[in-house]
Amino acid sequence: MIEKRFSAAAETYDRHARPQLALAQSVVSMLPEMYPEQILELGSGTGQLTRLLTDRFPDVPIEAVDVAEKMAVHSRAKFKRFPQINWIVGDAQTYWSGDHYPLIVSSSALHWVSDLRATCDNIFNSLEPGGTFALGMMLKGTLRELHDLRKVIAPGKTPVLTLPTYEEAGAYLLEAGFHLERRRHSEEEIIYYDAKAFLKAIHEQGVTGGKVSTGNAPLSRTELSQLVADYQENFTSGDGVYATYETATFLLNK
Ligand SMILES: C[S@@+](CC[C@H](N)C(=O)[O-])C[C@H]1O[C@@H](n2cnc3c(N)ncnc32)[C@H](O)[C@@H]1O
Repeated sequence: MIEKRFSAAAETYDRHARPQLALAQSVVSMLPEMYPEQILELGSGTGQLTRLLTDRFPDVPIEAVDVAEKMAVHSRAKFKRFPQINWIVGDAQTYWSGDHYPLIVSSSALHWVSDLRATCDNIFNSLEPGGTFALGMMLKGTLRELHDLRKVIAPGKTPVLTLPTYEEAGAYLLEAGFHLERRRHSEEEIIYYDAKAFLKAIHEQGVTGGKVSTGNAPLSRTELSQLVADYQENFTSGDGVYATYETATFLLNK
């Protein structure tokens, strides 16, 4: 269950979340001149994007929603000096407080939902007319080296689902009724000290064990050792190993 996995990663997530921090910064940098009365954030996790929002919009009430209870507990304690943030346990796919928001944001979270189309519809309905939705998400090319290698090492254990493509994400948003203001598509290679450190980092971000990195059965010890050795050999860069992150940032209006 996704909420259990992210709950388990609540303590370690921030140490390894460089690509997610860059995406959260991209979301905030895309926001237009505005000063909303309140903000809804979906998939708030340990509060990386939330913190940037408090800098940009001091004192604006933020409803920070995450499906993993431990993430909400962790962030509530970490941000106790920010009484304007309300940490809520809820599912972005269905969450609605009864309010309509002038600004909804989300970063590095919505690629996890099982039904992105329905989630876009839900967000559209929660936004007030004229409101803004700023979304940053991971896309299909993320960790492609790892996925390709898994297919070779354990062909019967490939992930059941994949992340959305840039085109799919864009299409779902438009079909939900959003008007596209701006978008940014990027691919970046992040360098890790070695293959072991890389696998540990994505595990501690809560990335492993999910629909995009686990097949119908976990890797055996032998397969895992093979994965580490082959990753180290095939995806080495000057000062470590690399992993690709494909992301998109969308700025939308209702
Ligand atoms: C990779 S973290 C990103 C957290 C934060 N937004 C950031 O930028 O660092 C993803 C978060 O999304 C949450 N999440 C995943 N699926 C969700 C859903 N359906 N509804 C709400 N939160 C969800 C996870 O529990 C996790 O805390």
